Amino acid sequence: MSLEQLLAWIPPGSPDETLARQVNFEQLPAHVAIIMDGNGRWAAQRHLPRVEGHRAGIESVRDVVESSARLGIDVLTLYAFSIENWKRPRAEVSMLMTLLKRYLRLELSTLLKHNIRFHVIGRKDELSPDVLNELEIGIRQTEHNSGMLFNIALNYGGRAEIVEAARRAIASGIPADELDERRFGDLLYTAGQPDPDLLIRTSGEMRVSNFLLWQIAYSEIWVTETLWPDFRRRHLLEAVLAYQKRDRRYGGIKPSPVALGAK
Ligand code: FPP
Repeated sequence: MSLEQLLAWIPPGSPDETLARQVNFEQLPAHVAIIMDGNGRWAAQRHLPRVEGHRAGIESVRDVVESSARLGIDVLTLYAFSIENWKRPRAEVSMLMTLLKRYLRLELSTLLKHNIRFHVIGRKDELSPDVLNELEIGIRQTEHNSGMLFNIALNYGGRAEIVEAARRAIASGIPADELDERRFGDLLYTAGQPDPDLLIRTSGEMRVSNFLLWQIAYSEIWVTETLWPDFRRRHLLEAVLAYQKRDRRYGGIKPSPVALGAK
């Protein structure tokens, strides 16, 4: 993606344009993962039922999916529903599933227009048949797209994913001394995908909440006070700019100019 293509979509003179012009397109995070948090608080601030926060959060999902694709992000993963979220009131869970189905139905054309490939990570088989059916339609219809990969984490738990991968490793009969990090990574839901470079969490909480535990080993974390229903392209650009200022060392040290032979 180029700056020109991104600017074509941004109102001239807007704060978003100023941010977009600062992005280094040679150094984009390949994979951005987002913990969408704060829907309930957004609704409470407006004296609305919690589900209204989720409904408003769908607008943010729309904006962020399109913004990420236009920006040139390779993989976007959104944490929509955790294994632990089943503990919420039945009506809230049912509304979340309804919103998800509606989103997929209404946004399939946008996914196709932007060449986005849709994928689900999590225990799909425990979802109800109507949700599963909608997901399968989205997956099938976008499977040949070659642009951004859009993962929705649904009925997802990081620890459960690792345990399932361990079970698969045992079942496949891989000799213990041949099991290394690369082979183990290939048994996760995200097999073949780059690890997230940037993990965003909204609403100010400093937790990873059982999200992509294996994959975020070296992710840069960016937390914003903004509640998810208020999160838009501007915040995504802010996160990318903050990421581009980070010094990633992966446990090593940054070579000094002297070590590199500078005079
Ligand atoms: C966290 O807010 C948000 C969720 C548990 C659900 C996020 C889901 C959506 C935005 C809609 C469906 C998603 C897609 C991808 C179409 P919270 O309820 O925990 O907020 P709180 O911490 O303020 O209570």
